[in-house]
Amino acid sequence: MPPIRIVDLQRQHRTLREPIEAAVRQVLEDCDFVMGRAVAEFEADLSRYLGVRFAVGCASGTDALRIALMALQIGPEDEVITTPFTFAATVEAIVLQGARPVFADIDPRTFNLDPGRIGERITSRTRAILPVHLFGHPADMDPILDLAREKKLRVIEDAAQAVGARYGGRCVGALGDIGCLSFYPAKHLGACGDGGALLTNDPELARRCRMISLHGAERRYRHEYSGLNSRLDSLQAAILKVKLPHLESWIERRIRIAGAYDRALQPHPPTPPFRAPRVRHVYNQYSIRSPRRDGLAEFLRARGVDCAIHYPLPLHLQPAYRCLAEGKGSFPHAEALAEEILSLPIFPELTREETEQVAVAVRDFWES
Ligand SMILES: Cc1ncc(COP(=O)(O)O)c(C=O)c1O
Repeated sequence: MPPIRIVDLQRQHRTLREPIEAAVRQVLEDCDFVMGRAVAEFEADLSRYLGVRFAVGCASGTDALRIALMALQIGPEDEVITTPFTFAATVEAIVLQGARPVFADIDPRTFNLDPGRIGERITSRTRAILPVHLFGHPADMDPILDLAREKKLRVIEDAAQAVGARYGGRCVGALGDIGCLSFYPAKHLGACGDGGALLTNDPELARRCRMISLHGAERRYRHEYSGLNSRLDSLQAAILKVKLPHLESWIERRIRIAGAYDRALQPHPPTPPFRAPRVRHVYNQYSIRSPRRDGLAEFLRARGVDCAIHYPLPLHLQPAYRCLAEGKGSFPHAEALAEEILSLPIFPELTREETEQVAVAVRDFWES
């Protein structure tokens, strides 16, 4: 049997090759490579789909986070509370702004920032809370938004892994002040290269985000802010516009595959991903918690089943962020999760037989 990849981009591309090639040809014909028609059209489609007033394209999810912090004028001396269990970009953006990331431990079930741990991390310098909707499961936003309102803090959502996920019926990314998306190819709405977007319901923040992504200028050669060159290019926007109408069916397929895994993996030790009430988890990753995780990963790979560890080391223990002065033992839930987490293959085109093959391999490990 051929190996099962954790994500197979070629299969998706094959199903959309013709409309994607036509969209790319159109941009080449028009030669409006930067801020072209496709960008405005995709932004309009995206904001409509997510139910948010403004979507502003930019060059990557990392840049989206950076632009959000810049738009909220967060910089040196400021503190931003976030999770230690995320991809490095979340924290990188804070550090690049000269601000200080302050970690709070995670909820061991959702793997997201635990709202009950945020209050104790707030100081007179705290300016924002930056929850991450990890693996496509929404962070618990109501208490986070309540706390932010009470303490007059801003909320930036890192929804890089969670486009289309819902919390209480509303799409994540549209709940706080600014939401950040990534269109990195392996994301479940992926470009053919890098891309990102900012989401907001506030017209002034949308204007600032747009300006910052265009060298801080609204009009050519008049710079109100010191900004960036960070635009979603027209080729990527044209490709994303072709893909967006398929996103709902892709998400539904991911949810079905996750349900099949949930059922098939019982009653063995790996804990399937938790799904909180009133949320739609979009399973950008299907990540289980497993004792003897490294042995299981080795066994799966030997059986032709790809798997990945997202993430093997929490950020407060990474060499780059040790200077934040919190050592081992500071965030026990994040540290324990890093020892047990394992992501299994999940993508919309994964067949029922392949799903079964993955589940059988996991069961065999426990039965052997
Ligand atoms: C949680 C999270 N935040 C931010 C990013 C950064 O996105 P990008 O790769 O588009 O810069 C990623 C990308 O993997 C991510 O997973």
